[in-house]
Amino acid sequence: MQTKTSLAATIVILALSWAPGAVAEQQQSTSRDATASTKQSFSPFVDAKGNITRPQSFREDWVHIGSWFVVEDDQASGPGVHDVYADPSAVKAFQAEGKWPDGAVLVKEIRSIEEGPKTTGHAQWAGDIGVWFVMVRDRHNRFPDNTAWGEGWGWALFTTDSPNTSTTDNWKGEGFNNCFGCHVPAKNTEWVFIEGYPTVRDAAKYDAQ
Ligand code: HEC
Repeated sequence: MQTKTSLAATIVILALSWAPGAVAEQQQSTSRDATASTKQSFSPFVDAKGNITRPQSFREDWVHIGSWFVVEDDQASGPGVHDVYADPSAVKAFQAEGKWPDGAVLVKEIRSIEEGPKTTGHAQWAGDIGVWFVMVRDRHNRFPDNTAWGEGWGWALFTTDSPNTSTTDNWKGEGFNNCFGCHVPAKNTEWVFIEGYPTVRDAAKYDAQ
């Protein structure tokens, strides 16, 4: 009996004396890993150099925050149905904080406009896929040398010819790659046209709107 108790006591003492060291060591290696892989682990859609890949399952798994319908006429530079999606954790954070959290990802999918009579009336709806625009929130300026990043976001454009590799080298580029020029009107709302997103806009906390 006596032996058993003291054996148990020894185990407890050993456990107590080892545990703190083991925990500290574990914590240290976790934080070392975190520092080493901050860029990699920051977003599943961004590699260490800041290259952005296209989220695939946003239609199934993400939140549809709103749609735009841009009529095809002489003035239109990007006609079509524009559906915008955000990753679910970003939507929750926005609803709580009123701003996009670090790592938030927004996808805008542009499709052609189909139209015709339906039993509801003259209807317009989304046709074939055109392009995907993607923005990734970076609140820590992780990629100062990568010109696809600026003003706290990574900017990417995917086409049907290049659905997985972004065609945006410079977010101040030409045509569809002049993300900067076109997004200036939304500068005061984190560069996002928040008025078009009823799923989140009422939670927005911006000074000037
Ligand atoms: C021709 C002007 C124009 C260009 C070029 C442009 N955008 Fe936009 N973008 C807009 C407008 C306006 C909206 C919202 C209304 C709409 O879609 O019609 C928008 C919306 C978006 C959205 C949905 C979230 C938001 O900000 O409202 C994403 C994502 C996006 N753009 C990414 C990009 C990226 C990335 C680039 C560059 C590769 C880019 N855009 C280039 C005008 C533009």
